[in-house]
Amino acid sequence: MTDDTLESVLTEQRLFEVPDQFAKQARISGMDQYFEMMKHAVEDYEGFWAEQARAEISWEIPFSEILDESNPPFYKWFSDGRLNVSYNCIDRHIEAGNGQRNAILWEGEPGDQRSLTYNELLDEVARLGNALKAYGVGKGDRVVIYMPMVPEAVAAMQACARIGAIHSVVFGGFSAEALKDRIEDATAKVVISADGGLRSGKTIPLKANVDQALEEGCDSVEHVVVLQRAENAIDWTEGRDVWFRDIMARESGDCPPEPVEAEHPLFILYTSGSTGKPKGVVHSSAGYLLGAAATMKWVFDIRPESDVFWCTADVGWITGHTYIAYGPTAVGATQVMYEGGPMYPEPDRLWAVAERTRTTVFYTAPTAIRALMKQGEEWPAKHDLSALRLLGSVGEPINPEAWMWYYRVIGGERCPIVDTWWQTETGAHMIAPLPGATALKPGSCTHPLPGIMADVVDEAGNSIDRAEDKGGLLIIRRPWPSMLRNVWGNEQRFIKTYWSYFPDQYLYLAGDSASRDADGYFWILGRMDDVINVSGHRMGTMEIESALVSHEKVAEAAVVGRPDEVKGNAIHAFVILKGSRGDQDLDHLRDDLRGHVAEKIGPIAKPDDIRFADGLPKTRSGKIMRRLLRAIASGEEITQDISTLEDESVIRQLQGKD
Ligand code: WTA
Repeated sequence: MTDDTLESVLTEQRLFEVPDQFAKQARISGMDQYFEMMKHAVEDYEGFWAEQARAEISWEIPFSEILDESNPPFYKWFSDGRLNVSYNCIDRHIEAGNGQRNAILWEGEPGDQRSLTYNELLDEVARLGNALKAYGVGKGDRVVIYMPMVPEAVAAMQACARIGAIHSVVFGGFSAEALKDRIEDATAKVVISADGGLRSGKTIPLKANVDQALEEGCDSVEHVVVLQRAENAIDWTEGRDVWFRDIMARESGDCPPEPVEAEHPLFILYTSGSTGKPKGVVHSSAGYLLGAAATMKWVFDIRPESDVFWCTADVGWITGHTYIAYGPTAVGATQVMYEGGPMYPEPDRLWAVAERTRTTVFYTAPTAIRALMKQGEEWPAKHDLSALRLLGSVGEPINPEAWMWYYRVIGGERCPIVDTWWQTETGAHMIAPLPGATALKPGSCTHPLPGIMADVVDEAGNSIDRAEDKGGLLIIRRPWPSMLRNVWGNEQRFIKTYWSYFPDQYLYLAGDSASRDADGYFWILGRMDDVINVSGHRMGTMEIESALVSHEKVAEAAVVGRPDEVKGNAIHAFVILKGSRGDQDLDHLRDDLRGHVAEKIGPIAKPDDIRFADGLPKTRSGKIMRRLLRAIASGEEITQDISTLEDESVIRQLQGKD
């Protein structure tokens, strides 16, 4: 956190009251109702959540146990209940007479369109579920999904849920090598992919990446299911590869949902941390579903019969899991899904889609808002956005300037903005406004949701007094239903990362620092660890460092985030070469290193800047001085005491002066 951030937080005075029109029809209208719910949760925590779980989930076998805290931090929720997530997301809406309602209004990047009703979604999911079973995938087996943003990706996730298989979606922007690591960690039996994905006029070679990953390992994989999407020439391995549409045509559309225990893992999603390889965050079936469904109602105020919801995230991230694949379907809503680049072919693409589909609730990331803001108001002005009634933001702090633009230009000063703080690990929104109740302050995610015991604490875990809040650690005091359950195959890492910071107390450590103002509003100040947020994507600096160091010419590397107007953070790398710098063509090497990182992780991890030096600034005890590197990367004046440095001339090199 910089002093500037804290300063702006503490001086933000603007308050946006709930518009009367909105409050009148909202599910939660007024702070009294919020306080009432919070009071219920404080007085009877388990009773509160049990009530929600009965209301939101259709159970095959009702639960009697609520929260099991006997073996912390391995908490269990509703553990003697049984359910099927895909039944909850599809069949029950059909049984209620809503099978003809559109589940997905899809638009491809080239402009092709497809809509699927809940009946049609069920047919796809059931056929695919049967196909997976025919390939020997059963309850608890893992399936990796590496697909573009097409309805079949949602169908694939739901098909796994239907048969009790555990999916692990890998973002299509990750490289063959990153894909391989994830397939191997999850020991997946089947990979579902496509011939290619379309993004900003380019074709992403998904199938070629799968081939490469499988060539180098991944022995657990028996079949690769390939959707034809990009009309892209691909290699074919007879016996292993099968066309998506071929198996769909031969399978039956009748696939009974398999009831599973509440705690049965629904999916694994890999996310970056401060150390080592990405970790597989494991989510449960019932608790996760509850978080997704409840927040669709509380935070997005969703009315399935009239709203058109659109979350612009990719299904490869948690936002696409909770607010595309599971949340909108859990409540039986209609949602928009768009395949391609937000500026393609022109900067009004999102607004054109919103106009055509009459989108009412729109959810995106600050980085997208800032990029669109740069293009000018004339682009949204070309479109009728009058159907919009609510806007959302996720993934990183939204700066007040972007907030105001979003509010004024996109929302026509009539739509509340819900700034939602949450994480891959939390499964669903944790701190966010209730749009019919909460007065908004630009840049603040406002208050914890009902039943979420979020707090800002000092190093000892004590709440920081609001009046003198200068920022502290963001934690959650009590286990909540949609929380992660484990790190796949690595219990120790689960305990160490999230539950070991405060000795003798199980407080969930979010990894963000936060502050609370005198009105009790939460302000997220940024990550406290070596994770950076690049265009709303969470990246581990260590991961990028290891990718750099795996290059034959690199001896050592340090990566830090540097503030960037559009991306939030840009990736700045300091590189020490083997041998002398003078002997190298540094411009050429820079390109080479960027390409190398793209190959190891994916294009999203490419450093924006690379500077070469003879050494890195280290303390006498040998620790890299990251704070100093951050200051250098952002061109700040060096105020730190560098007299302890082994070699002060290194600083000039890192600043690009020598
Ligand atoms: C950041 C994305 C400020 C935060 C859902 C968190 C935010 C990390 C917000 C999780 C927000 C997310 N305001 N910061 N509204 N939402 N973050 O796992 O640093 O990809 O820890 O989940 O994003 O990123 P993840």
